[in-house]
Amino acid sequence: MADRQDVVIIGAGAAGMMCAIEAGKRGRRVVVVDHAKAPGEKIRISGGGRCNFTNIHASPKNFLSDNPHFCKSALARYTPRDFIDLVERHGIAWHEKTLGQLFCDDSAKDIIRMLLTEMRDAGVALRLGISVASVERTPTGFRTMTSEGPIDSAALVIATGGKSIPKMGATGFAYGIAEEFGLPLVETRPGLVPLTLDPGLLESLKDLAGVAVDAEAKSGKTTFREALLMTHRGLSGPSILQISSFWREGGDVHLHLLPEIDLLAALKTARKVNGRQAAQTALAEQMPKRLAQFFVEKSGLAHRSLADLSDKALDALCIGIRDWTIRPAGSEGYRTAEVTLGGIDTRALDSRSMQARDVPGLFFIGECVDVTGWLGGYNFQWAWASGYSAGQAA
Ligand code: FDA
Repeated sequence: MADRQDVVIIGAGAAGMMCAIEAGKRGRRVVVVDHAKAPGEKIRISGGGRCNFTNIHASPKNFLSDNPHFCKSALARYTPRDFIDLVERHGIAWHEKTLGQLFCDDSAKDIIRMLLTEMRDAGVALRLGISVASVERTPTGFRTMTSEGPIDSAALVIATGGKSIPKMGATGFAYGIAEEFGLPLVETRPGLVPLTLDPGLLESLKDLAGVAVDAEAKSGKTTFREALLMTHRGLSGPSILQISSFWREGGDVHLHLLPEIDLLAALKTARKVNGRQAAQTALAEQMPKRLAQFFVEKSGLAHRSLADLSDKALDALCIGIRDWTIRPAGSEGYRTAEVTLGGIDTRALDSRSMQARDVPGLFFIGECVDVTGWLGGYNFQWAWASGYSAGQAA
């Protein structure tokens, strides 16, 4: 005989656990199943092990979706303050690192422990290491066929995340279920991901691997200003991860290095004070030495002293640094992407509850939905908010 529950949640990640807590608190009989051996594995590795669990500035404008309005309702129902209150009730110390990004002082595992405690207190059952073979509709709801037998439920919540980091058990499960039940999908692609360069360009930049610099990265009309990191595969660092979600194959990325500094004025002053100084030495006072050497060589000014350089030559050097245009060959893909863009088309979901409009009782939450946050705690805030909203309705 099938096990009987009110709510089955597939996926014990951030969204699934939050949904389970809220549904459990409402007195629903809830079971969470996951094929992984441990819950919240992405929480554990997030934020360099300290989990950037929310962003105090989170608002709908920090999310990408075919329908930018869809996320508004859930984000308003469960705010960063709500999650901070939860974290503080559990005595977890936190700090703001930068740009509203909140991290645990100690360990991301504190967040997992907190969610597990809340689940236990809400009477939620957690079954790990279980695979789900199929899901079907029944006259009273759904039957989930698992490796440990069938589970019947009135409500079924899909919280299996996106395709990013398949090595950690990410699957396209949610998209398959959506298709099975006739829900449309928005094409998926990797987001918050390092960008790669073609071999020729990479070779010309190989001496820069490991260099980090403050930069504005622009693609289309979108610009992010954060650190840029040159790697042995291409471009990375927060400014690149951010812009990668907006960049499309074949497009350029425009880099404005050192946007805070009036480089031309600084070089002209250096020329006045010490004309015998080499251009690359003067530039290296403003940026990493290897980068200074690269740009001076690129402009054909290697070993030239400042006094030899006209205003025009200095200006050309600065323009090269202010608008360094690079055409990436691609991205590192789902292997290293922090998130998956696209997913379940929001037109098929009710924005208050995350329930499928045409399939009562079926819910999709978290990363599998076509709502993707910027880098900086926004994606967990979406997981908490969408999980909370479904937890109130399931
Ligand atoms: P999530 O992927 O967390 O959970 C899905 C669960 O479903 C998993 O437990 C998985 O095992 C399970 N599952 C999948 N397929 C299944 C199947 N077929 N059957 C059964 N179970 C299945 N965000 C942020 O805001 N701040 C941060 O600091 C970071 N840092 C970060 C670092 C790294 C390295 C990555 C890869 C990602 C981040 N993120 C982040 C993004 C964040 O981790 C992500 O947005 C959320 O974990 C999404 O939560 P979900 O619950 O939707 O999916």
